[in-house]
Amino acid sequence: MTAFDFCGASLHADPSGALVWPDRRLMVVADLHLEKGAWYAARGIPLPPYDTGETLDRLEAAIARHRPDRLVCLGDSVHDGDAARRMTPEVVRRILGLARGRDWIWIAGNHDPEPDTLPGGRSLAELALAPLVFRHEAAAGPVSGEVSGHYHPRARIRLRGRTVSGRCFVLDRHRLILPAFGAYAGGLDVTADAFDPLLQVEFEILFPGPRRVYRFAGAAEPYPRRVGTTEISTDGRRLAQTVSTWWIELLRKSSNSESSSSSPSSSRTKACCFRM
Ligand SMILES: [Fe+2]
Repeated sequence: MTAFDFCGASLHADPSGALVWPDRRLMVVADLHLEKGAWYAARGIPLPPYDTGETLDRLEAAIARHRPDRLVCLGDSVHDGDAARRMTPEVVRRILGLARGRDWIWIAGNHDPEPDTLPGGRSLAELALAPLVFRHEAAAGPVSGEVSGHYHPRARIRLRGRTVSGRCFVLDRHRLILPAFGAYAGGLDVTADAFDPLLQVEFEILFPGPRRVYRFAGAAEPYPRRVGTTEISTDGRRLAQTVSTWWIELLRKSSNSESSSSSPSSSRTKACCFRM
């Protein structure tokens, strides 16, 4: 886990993509998109329908690690309005088992605007627990302590000629956006224009690796690009200056967008570096 402070709350980013708030014994996951495989299968798209089981396996493991009293599912917990009816008795049994003995909250999302049909918990439009507020989609305009999902942030980083791609947390001083937790949930690169109205120029990503979460600082600047800040820590502390520094580049998600970034007016290019 990687500890970090966000708007006065001491939080942990779990490699699974879950967010943990130990002081409140609370765990948060976003965009489970349960039953997405079955939704595609019903439309003739032959995806293996094992995503719900895999997502619940990972959720079960995260819950076992952190034993939260309250679990907040940040919306888009299911892929569509019929998902609860499609769930097998085994899936319902597993969710009820995980929810037993804890306050399980289904936050409404755009895929599940009325999550009260889902088993095991209570549904809310959003949840405020000062100094944080939990909602599915980042609100327009100024916010403070907002924790959301919806955008499924991902990052691609190039390190010594190798490209690593994966889901990530992205945050600035006011907003924190969680990666999608669902097995089949797609992703949106953090350099995408959709993040520009949400994030400040200086932001960070928390990039889950197999065993730990890596913390990177980033910045967005108008073309021509320049790398951003170098203040990096892995556990809330600054690392010693003696460690080696590798510059990495958050790549734009396609060669098309890379070429479009050559225009000063097209979009911002974001870059970051890290130390390890
Ligand atoms: Fe969403």
